[in-house]
Parts: sequence; structure tokens; C-alpha cells
Amino acid sequence: MKVLICAGNGGIGQGLIKAILERHPDAEISATYRKQKPADLSPAIHWFQTDLTDQKSIEQLASNVSQIDWLINCAGFLHQLNGDTFHGPEKSIRQFEPDFFLSNIQHNTLPTLLLARYFSYALKQSPRGIFAAVSAKVGSIEDNRLGGWYSYRASKAALNMALKTLSIEWQRSHKNLCVSALHPGTTDTGLSEPFQKNVPEGKLFTPEQTGHYLLDVLEQLTPEKTGSFFSWNGETLPW
Ligand SMILES: NC(=O)c1ccc[n+]([C@@H]2O[C@H](COP(=O)([O-])OP(=O)(O)OC[C@H]3O[C@@H](n4cnc5c(N)ncnc54)[C@H](OP(=O)(O)O)[C@@H]3O)[C@@H](O)[C@H]2O)c1
Repeated sequence: MKVLICAGNGGIGQGLIKAILERHPDAEISATYRKQKPADLSPAIHWFQTDLTDQKSIEQLASNVSQIDWLINCAGFLHQLNGDTFHGPEKSIRQFEPDFFLSNIQHNTLPTLLLARYFSYALKQSPRGIFAAVSAKVGSIEDNRLGGWYSYRASKAALNMALKTLSIEWQRSHKNLCVSALHPGTTDTGLSEPFQKNVPEGKLFTPEQTGHYLLDVLEQLTPEKTGSFFSWNGETLPW
């Protein structure tokens, strides 16, 4: 099995790589990082420095990794520091700002579309392929009960729409492939760190836990399940 984990240096990306190393020791793992390659994972991993928002960078990645069975995109964005100013998800529409909205789309939606474009051929060759992206339950339109977080929700809803649309196109051309959106559950990473205080006890997963939960889901995916949104526990989520 040949696996490409995009943003394999992030919290959930590393958790997933560790789970694959443990449960599929024969898997050939390639992974991407943008800023810093993790120092303490297996030396057998092939690392590629990639800016997943950059078309040329993804084109280059695809020319380096020409055979894959699974491509899992674990990149994402929720908040940023501008100088000393924390810029996080909007509590109210009064906090909405175009630059922050566009950053969400750029990091949460665009990379998966570019990856689909440039890895279409490689994935078509796989006898049992998976193309998945780590989305978020808050991107579900039907499940939206609390409101807020306009930019993040909209960027993940757009990601979900992109994946659903791709699953329809590839159902015809990539018959051995499953396209899926994944919700990882709240996981203790830099991305969720500022928002963890109200997480109920036992509901904040370590990245290693999430890695195993997502791998449980991935192992169950078949082409018949293409075009679905799965939670970490295998539950199907509404779009
Ligand atoms: N943690 C949670 O509770 C939670 C809940 C629901 C959904 N999610 C989703 O899970 C995914 C993973 O998040 P995480 O919790 O693992 O966060 P994280 O530890 O902050 O990891 C985010 C990853 O995205 C990468 N990234 C961002 N922009 C990039 C770009 N332009 N090019 C390449 N890589 C880029 C980062 O790379 P660098 O560090 O190199 O910049 C990092 O590897 C995200 O899509 C997030 O929305 C997380």
C-alpha cells in the first residue's frame, strides 16, 4: 500500500502516520510538510516540502509521488496571529473580515481541489484507492445548530461540496476509488488549543487516538461508500 499524507507534520497528520506505521508496517509512506519536518518519525518516510495552497508546489509533488493508493489531506486553518493580535473564528457577523475569510478558503478548501487535479491520474491506477480530506463537523450545513465561525464553517462546507462533486465525477472514471470527507473529533493540537476549555471530559482526543480512529474509518472505505462524510467513530454525518 502506498500512502500520501499531506500536512503529515500537523497534529492529526502525525497521529495518522503513527497509526499507519503501527498497523501497516509494510505501507510505503510519503508525507508533506510546509514549515518543519517532524524529527522523530520513521526514517523510512519520504518527506516533501510542499505549500498546499500553491499550484506549482502541488504539481511538483505529483511528479515526485507518481504511485499512490491513499491520499489523505490533513492540512487546515482556524486562527492566526497577526503580530501580537490573535485572529480567530467569528462569534458574530460583525467580526467578519474578507482577508480572514479568504485565508480559510485558501487553506481549508483550495488544497484538496488542487490535490485532486494533480493526483487524478495516479489514483486512477490504484486497484483500491482512497482520496480523503480532514474536514470538520462544523462544516455540515444540516448539523449547524450553534452558528458563528462563519469563515471556517463556510470553507469546510465548500470543501465538503468539492469532495461530493469529485466523488460523482470519479464514480464514472475512477471505479476503484472512494472519495470521503472525515471529521476527526476534537483533538489536542495547535489548531484546537485556544478552544479546548469547554470540551467535555474524555472528548478531547490525543493526536494518536485520532490517528487510530481515522485509520479505523479509512480501513472500512470501499468504492461503494464514495461521496460520504464520516465521523471519527464511523458514523455518517449529514452534509
Ligand atoms: N484539532 C481538532 O480538534 C480538529 C477538529 C476538527 C477538524 N480538524 C481539522 O483537522 C485538520 C488538521 O488539523 P490539526 O488539528 O492537525 O491542526 P495542526 O496541528 O495545526 O495542523 C495543521 C496542518 O496544516 C498544515 N498547513 C496549513 N496550511 C498549509 C499550507 N499552505 N501548506 C501546507 N501545509 C499547510 C500545517 O503545516 P505547517 O505546520 O507546516 O504550516 C499543519 O501541518 C484541519 O483540516 C482541521 O481543520 C481539527
